[in-house]
Amino acid sequence: MNDPVLLITGGSSGLGAATAAAAARAGYRLVLTARGVDRLAAFAAGLGGPERVLTLPCDVGDWSQISGVVAKTEETFGRLDAVFANAGSSVGTSFLGRSGEDPELWREMVVTNVCGPAYTARAALPALMRSRGHLVLTGSASGRGVRPGSLYSATKWAVTGLAQAIRAECVGTGVRVTIVQPGLVDTEAIPADRKDDPKLDPADVARAVLYALEQPSTVDVNEIVIRPVGQDAYK
Ligand SMILES: NC(=O)c1ccc[n+]([C@@H]2O[C@H](COP(=O)([O-])OP(=O)(O)OC[C@H]3O[C@@H](n4cnc5c(N)ncnc54)[C@H](OP(=O)(O)O)[C@@H]3O)[C@@H](O)[C@H]2O)c1
Repeated sequence: MNDPVLLITGGSSGLGAATAAAAARAGYRLVLTARGVDRLAAFAAGLGGPERVLTLPCDVGDWSQISGVVAKTEETFGRLDAVFANAGSSVGTSFLGRSGEDPELWREMVVTNVCGPAYTARAALPALMRSRGHLVLTGSASGRGVRPGSLYSATKWAVTGLAQAIRAECVGTGVRVTIVQPGLVDTEAIPADRKDDPKLDPADVARAVLYALEQPSTVDVNEIVIRPVGQDAYK
């Protein structure tokens, strides 16, 4: 079977799940990861049998787990064509201490959002060089503008820089690197104080990811910024 293989981190809900569904319809075989295996397995069951979809538990902040996922992908399917480094989390923060979570809870978000895509890239790029494949990272519109008091925004600025650093190192390898930077998307992750703001549907982001993936191998879509109509310019 020659169908391309796409690995998605954070593939059990939100943007990752919507992209998995769109990619399955487009003919990709999938490797989906998340920490919560029950929800992941339940979601994946609707996308195809084990010959089409592999689910693996993985915390992207743990190097041994994400590198093990890439090894298992090649062992199972014999190839890896594209990776959507999408897993992420958010906690509210304030540097003045006026709101937000205990600073003890900040570390996990930084590890997931910054080390996660960095480890994913490091684990997957040798395989992607062999396939002349494609790395897509989930950044955020908040990784382009200043959000008062937001460490989440700072982690997404890090993803903006990470995508550029990886693309620069990949020159000459044939690997394409895309960062997708969504505004507010209607998922479990959005903060309560933004529930009534204009929102994208996760499927809107999935179409953007598929657009990047389905370009000719000579075309590298570097960045996609996608925001809901009416979203405040500073959010
Ligand atoms: N929603 C928005 O408005 C928005 C806007 C811009 C960017 N984003 C970004 O989009 C990405 C997906 O977010 P979402 O809104 O779709 O959230 P979501 O619905 O909460 O989905 C997050 C996914 O990531 C997984 N995950 C979380 N922490 C993980 C970890 N440490 N290791 C492995 N998997 C982990 C979750 O599964 P488990 O919990 O089972 O591991 C889940 O599958 C994130 O990078 C987020 O920052 C979201």
